[in-house]
Amino acid sequence: MKFFVDTANIEEIRELAELGIIDGVTTNPSLVAKEKGSYDDLLREICALVDGPISAEVTALDVEGMLTEGDHYASLHDNIVVKLPTTPDGLKACRRLVADDIRVNMTLIFSPLQALLCARAGATFVSPFIGRLDDISQEGMGVIEQTVQIFDNYNFPTEVLVASVRHPVHILQAAMIGADVCTVPHKILMQMIRHPLTDSGLEKFLADWKKSGR
Ligand code: E4P
Repeated sequence: MKFFVDTANIEEIRELAELGIIDGVTTNPSLVAKEKGSYDDLLREICALVDGPISAEVTALDVEGMLTEGDHYASLHDNIVVKLPTTPDGLKACRRLVADDIRVNMTLIFSPLQALLCARAGATFVSPFIGRLDDISQEGMGVIEQTVQIFDNYNFPTEVLVASVRHPVHILQAAMIGADVCTVPHKILMQMIRHPLTDSGLEKFLADWKKSGR
């Protein structure tokens, strides 16, 4: 399973890129709103740090607006993937961008049937939001399970990108199901690396080494 980081913060992306644990980046309007500078500049900087798919989300709600924004973001760098909302206009825009060889990540997916329609429209990635489903007492991971199964049944090349990840157990479950990618906040990726027994084990090894006088 591949890992994307779900942030527009350059320092977080730099740190994770140096660790060598991320394959791409997803941004969205809420994440970008927390940062300074223009979206274009942030995207260029991110593309210079990570050599992988970088999602840039449109804010237009109509097809023509989505295409204008999508073409613009795609022109910034070859690694840009245009992120579109899963709406009727989003599906139309997806088909048209894909016809121009622009990769698309369909976002705000909450059901396997939305994911199926996006795969049929040629999306490179579909992003089911599991945490937001959990938040309203629906089982987010069920959508991942069903989407992976449907894509396998019909050999869709579209990748299942698990989004709205809230804790490491989500990642473990997604990996057990066989999802293609998880996009994860910086804090949770760092949580995955650390384990209290690793820290205490290391402390003991070093103390014993010191005691032995070597
Ligand atoms: C995915 O691409 C989104 O940016 C993201 O995962 C949304 O997560 P949230 O529900 O924590 O805002």
